[in-house]
Amino acid sequence: MSHPAIVNNSETAAATEPGQPSPAEEIASLKQQLMQAQKMTALGELVGTTTHEFNNLLMTILNYAKMGLRHKDDPTREKAFTKILSASERAAKITNNILGMARNRSDEFEPTDMKNLIEDSLLLLEREMNKYRVRIDKQIEQVPEALARGNQIQQVLMNLLTNARQAMPSGGEIILRLTHDAATNTVDLMVRDNGSGIPQDKLRNIFDPYFSTKAGPDATGKGGTGLGLTACRDIIQAHNGRIRVDSTVGKGTAFTIKLPVAVATVSAPGKSVVPPINAIADSSQKRVSA
Ligand SMILES: Nc1ncnc2c1ncn2[C@@H]1O[C@H](COP(=O)(O)OP(=O)(O)OP(=O)(O)O)[C@@H](O)[C@H]1O
Ligand SMILES: [Mg+2]
Repeated sequence: MSHPAIVNNSETAAATEPGQPSPAEEIASLKQQLMQAQKMTALGELVGTTTHEFNNLLMTILNYAKMGLRHKDDPTREKAFTKILSASERAAKITNNILGMARNRSDEFEPTDMKNLIEDSLLLLEREMNKYRVRIDKQIEQVPEALARGNQIQQVLMNLLTNARQAMPSGGEIILRLTHDAATNTVDLMVRDNGSGIPQDKLRNIFDPYFSTKAGPDATGKGGTGLGLTACRDIIQAHNGRIRVDSTVGKGTAFTIKLPVAVATVSAPGKSVVPPINAIADSSQKRVSA
């Protein structure tokens, strides 16, 4: 992987006129609105993806219920009930996951188990990944909890997974690696694909709003707005984290997000703090402002 880049944000302060919101305040308010719109888009896409799956599960339940009613013998009924139970359990998991996102249950930063978050995201994308013949290789280590807004990080992960899938139109492999970087005390999540890669001249633009090389949404209704990575960057920055990309044309792309470990403070047991931002700087990579 030959073209590393780190994204870092800096905002310039501007003068305030009396009675008027300052430009900085206006930008903050617009960013807030954009974030809300992106959340709704992510939710809409999710509902689109999962409605098909939900319908399949309902069909399974209906068919096995009919089978159980038609055949009175115990083994057939046992099989029918078992199938109904497992399809219903999967359906319940999916609805819980969507409801969780809709409720935005963790607007607060809280210690977050990244392994669970990965499993939740994969559950929602499983059908899509199978359809596009994308295999997921999970390399999950035991890591401390990250300090995160779970739903937002799930949104980031789903954006990265969708981009990876779209970079491999004839299928491929995604490596999902969860590690703890002791040097920076961060929980690191890498999403690596073996797809098209990103040319160096485009690499600097991929986080820009509306930058997209896709003609439009694909058959799943995803891609083409150019806001996916912008949202990822904004979310990771709000977490005091880092997002980094390494890519080689023809070989693939790896996105890594680094999130602060949730640490308990001495003065307020059970509460968590964000480590200072310089504690998670990564000096080995070239830095690009966005
Ligand atoms: N894993 C990847 N492999 C190759 N190119 C990528 C990858 N991830 C992102 N890109 C490039 O970065 C661009 C911007 O990505 P981004 O997710 O912001 O927008 P998008 O996928 O085009 O549309 P959407 O906002 O609907 O997701 C993509 O159009 C693509 O050119
Ligand atoms: Mg995208």
